[in-house]
Amino acid sequence: TNIYEDADRACGFVADAIERLLRERQSQGKSAVLGLATGSTPVRLYRELIRRHREEGLSFANVVTFNLDEYYGLEGTHPESYRRFMQDQLFDHVDLDPEKTHVPDGTVEREDVFASCRRYEEKIEEVGGIDIQILGIGRTGHIGFNEPGSGPESRTRLVTLDTLTRRDAARDFLGEENVPRHAITMGVGTILDARVVYLLAWGDSKAGVISESVEGQPSASIPASFLQLHKDCVFCVDGGAASQL
Ligand code: GLP
Repeated sequence: TNIYEDADRACGFVADAIERLLRERQSQGKSAVLGLATGSTPVRLYRELIRRHREEGLSFANVVTFNLDEYYGLEGTHPESYRRFMQDQLFDHVDLDPEKTHVPDGTVEREDVFASCRRYEEKIEEVGGIDIQILGIGRTGHIGFNEPGSGPESRTRLVTLDTLTRRDAARDFLGEENVPRHAITMGVGTILDARVVYLLAWGDSKAGVISESVEGQPSASIPASFLQLHKDCVFCVDGGAASQL
């Protein structure tokens, strides 16, 4: 666990790692694969990447991205969809090839969900796997939308959202009744396959779940605790989120 004075410093550290990867792959003429997350937590990181793109010429032309999750039933144009979020917070501000940005499709018919999730996994494999995976964490201990009960071998699939997760999202959707009940998410196993993982968390409200994830026994009751099984995963937290460690 890396504890930072504030979120900006933590984001600077992660942005440095991303920049090193991008520049190294560029010099080799190869692509870099980023696993990306939504929620308020990674917004500062995306802001810093946009700044480096604008001011320091950091290019995303050779980058392929895969997002963790998407609400089931939302069109990519819906204001609360994760596709829309990524366009607004990052994709529209850098030189990413739109064809190389992937967010699970929340609009597939029920009977096609399984095939669509399998295809998502295959696309990750086809480009050689995820180099750097960025994660936030939900108060239930979820990563992506892997709610309690998600095992370490779970793969991309349709899941049911936890009541607490839906309550936390209620403000964005102007009411809990508007929050979708299901989502498509990469699995814990999919996340554990990434070569390097950075989990970000800010503020006291995440302190309990951070301490359980870092210091508790790995268990499906706190899916983020399975990150202890990963050999190159760093929790990047501020003082608030570290306050119960
Ligand atoms: C949502 C997302 C998660 C995110 C979590 C925390 O449930 N699916 O990926 O980590 O919210 O959100 P925030 O970063 O706003 O605290």
